[in-house]
Amino acid sequence: MPRSEESPVSDSPRPSVIVLAAGAGTRMKSEKPKIMHEIGGRSMVGHALRAAEGLSPEKIAVVVRHQRDRVVEHISRLAPHAAIADQDEVPGTGRAVQAGLEALEREGVTRGTVLVTSGDVPLMTSESLQRLAEDHESAGNAVTVLTAVVPDATGYGRIVRGEGGEVLAIVEHKDATEEQRAIREFNAGVYAFDIEVLKDALSQVTTDNAQGEMYLTDVLGIARSAGGRVAASVVEDVWQVEGANDRVQLAALGKELNRRTVERAMRGGATVVDPDTTWIDDSVVIGQDVTILPNTQLHGATEIASGASVGPDTTLTDVVVGEGASVVRTHGSESRIGAGASVGPFAYLRPGTSLGEKGKIGTFVETKNAEIGSGSKVPHLSYVGDATIGEGSNIGAASVFVNYDGVKKHRTVIGSHVRMGSDNMYVAPVTVGDGAYSGAGTVVRKDVPAGALAITVAPQRNIERWVTENRPGTAAAEAAEKASE
Ligand code: UD1
Ligand code: MG
Repeated sequence: MPRSEESPVSDSPRPSVIVLAAGAGTRMKSEKPKIMHEIGGRSMVGHALRAAEGLSPEKIAVVVRHQRDRVVEHISRLAPHAAIADQDEVPGTGRAVQAGLEALEREGVTRGTVLVTSGDVPLMTSESLQRLAEDHESAGNAVTVLTAVVPDATGYGRIVRGEGGEVLAIVEHKDATEEQRAIREFNAGVYAFDIEVLKDALSQVTTDNAQGEMYLTDVLGIARSAGGRVAASVVEDVWQVEGANDRVQLAALGKELNRRTVERAMRGGATVVDPDTTWIDDSVVIGQDVTILPNTQLHGATEIASGASVGPDTTLTDVVVGEGASVVRTHGSESRIGAGASVGPFAYLRPGTSLGEKGKIGTFVETKNAEIGSGSKVPHLSYVGDATIGEGSNIGAASVFVNYDGVKKHRTVIGSHVRMGSDNMYVAPVTVGDGAYSGAGTVVRKDVPAGALAITVAPQRNIERWVTENRPGTAAAEAAEKASE
């Protein structure tokens, strides 16, 4: 969330954020870097960057190493202003944060608060990061770590507290004693640090541990010994601190993220008939009184205006659906559907489709780069590619916009209020004027002037008794004979 305008103005800079994204993520068993795996239509590091950006931070640094160029390309697209920090061969989260601090220093950030988050903790929110920064600063802490309590914290670093409940240290699972492994409070891997304390403490961190890595978590003990206040902030919503290390965890986090997104849509006034089979990216915008029927997936920059009905069995990616429109059993991308329009069942809307108000793209119709004006209809069994259709026109069943000559694509332009017959072929480039008609089976190769009737069919010829003479003994011949008795 951006800072509210009422928040007190202070001279201390906004916190900066270091996002850790250098790890290999071997448990993912993937050629793709772990932090680039997606849930809810966004990569895991994309979620981390979005949460960080929501703080309006002073600066964001992302630490990279594994598949560096690929990850940098991805990050530059998502957060062009983020500083890239290259981690060297020394392994561990401590070394990663050192690289992040150097990058921040190059950007002129040398004091104040820095938050550290992981590129593999996708459900963390801006609000939680904001609260962490506020708690940290108002308590005057040197280090504040986000923690959560679960029945079994296997694999995580455990929070070791003293008699009075004060945080003494974090012990990694692999380095923990049996007694420490029974601790149910774990390190979420999200922290607020005073930059100067962090820098100093990191210079004392070694690789003397079970994994031979520089542990960021060692900073807590070091800062404490140096007299700094070290505290933990316990998160109730455990999902927010769950990391995805393998694909099983990724799917579980994806499902939970979706549950939250679908719930938000319902609380915003949408009816979702079956939340379990409805998948909505968190970037999708859904209006009031929208109805979403089962097995529907809404992705990317899709927007559904109020009163529209989508589904069942519909997948829309970057599709804008107008008020009160109906979209049934449809697969669509990069398209616009006007208010009150009707699409499907069984329609395939490819990029560049734009259907006007109260228009219709009906059953078994495929469209691409097609502008279909208000009230115009393509009701049945047609392909409309590279076409402009005016208003109030009707395209007959089973028509094809023949847009491809084998080398190039060409455009068909059809005017307003035309009535085209069934089974027409529009051999592009070709233009049909306003108010024109065409007969069934017309192959439109030449422009049709406004108001003209176009027909290309040759006159029908019936050859009497052909079946009896040429197909004797068949059921057809028998039927024909019977009919002529
Ligand atoms: C870390 C914590 C552990 C905590 C857990 C929470 C340490 C030593 N341990 O363990 O206490 O409970 O997170 O999920 O910090 N990374 C780098 N460079 C590296 C290694 C890792 O950038 O050299 C990045 C990874 O890309 C990832 C994050 O740091 O985004 C965490 O690394 P990971 O290997 O998953 O650490 P954990 O073993 O899970
Ligand atoms: Mg991890």
